[in-house]
Amino acid sequence: MIEKKTYKSKSDLSAIEEQTLLYARDLAKMFMERKEKERQLNLTKQQLVQSAKIALLGELAAGIAHEINNALTPAVGNLSILLLDRSNFPEEVARRLELTEESIMRASSMLQQILDFSRKKPEKRQLLDISTILERSLFLLKYKFTKNQIRLEKDLPSELSKVLADDTQIEQVFTNLILNAIDAMEPGGTLHITANNRAGKSEDDQPYVEMVFEDTGRGIPTEVMEHVFEPFYTTKGQGTGLGLFISYRIIVEKHGGMMDVTSTPGQGTRFKVCLPAS
Ligand SMILES: Nc1ncnc2c1ncn2[C@@H]1O[C@H](COP(=O)(O)OP(=O)(O)OP(=O)(O)O)[C@@H](O)[C@H]1O
Ligand SMILES: [Mg+2]
Repeated sequence: MIEKKTYKSKSDLSAIEEQTLLYARDLAKMFMERKEKERQLNLTKQQLVQSAKIALLGELAAGIAHEINNALTPAVGNLSILLLDRSNFPEEVARRLELTEESIMRASSMLQQILDFSRKKPEKRQLLDISTILERSLFLLKYKFTKNQIRLEKDLPSELSKVLADDTQIEQVFTNLILNAIDAMEPGGTLHITANNRAGKSEDDQPYVEMVFEDTGRGIPTEVMEHVFEPFYTTKGQGTGLGLFISYRIIVEKHGGMMDVTSTPGQGTRFKVCLPAS
């Protein structure tokens, strides 16, 4: 018996081939999309685990910082009492006691910054005139300007809008920026501080108050610039590297503001801080 074979025409076959190719392409696309969704899901899961870990670490760090700070307080206290009268000790001993006191104070200041930042104290918000806060920081740092022979130039308008903020935290930011500027300058350098009311970028944008801290210091090289806002990053032997990390969080995360830096190595650095006006 002769079997009857049915052959499709050539054009039918190529149509089927084309269709199969299209299916294969769609399938491959679906497969890739699924893979991408899985990858994103995994990434989100990892980020969630990571933020839970960071939150836990934060709490642990605050607890440890508190305990160590408590242990350091009597150590500094005793050293200060001993050093009230340096003449009780040979010069070499007094010098070493002073160095020990300085080291402990540095550790203590680092711990205090961690505590101030992570402590779950209720956020204190009040309407502030930030030039008053700035004057407070400057008053406390007056001796530093004199000691390092740094000139201060201020340009603060009398009609500065008020901001809703935590005064202690904003003072901490200003103090950090001023100290950084002083540290970066040689005697004879100038720190120029200006404040201005600014309109929002578009009509419905909120107006803000802008503060600029501009120094004539050594500037920040590119390889340092990438790291300045990282925790514990410092180029100073004596620094904690927490100043800018904490300042950034206070301004951006806690007050919904903005902070940025530009610098020309060898010429100076300019930090800009913006806070929403009320
Ligand atoms: N105005 C500035 N001019 C030049 N370099 C700066 C300036 N401000 C910050 N930096 C650089 O950024 C680094 C990080 O600053 P940050 O305030 O976070 O820490 P620190 O000043 O080193 O330590 P701490 O604030 O505890 O004293 C500094 O070590 C310095 O290299
Ligand atoms: Mg600093």
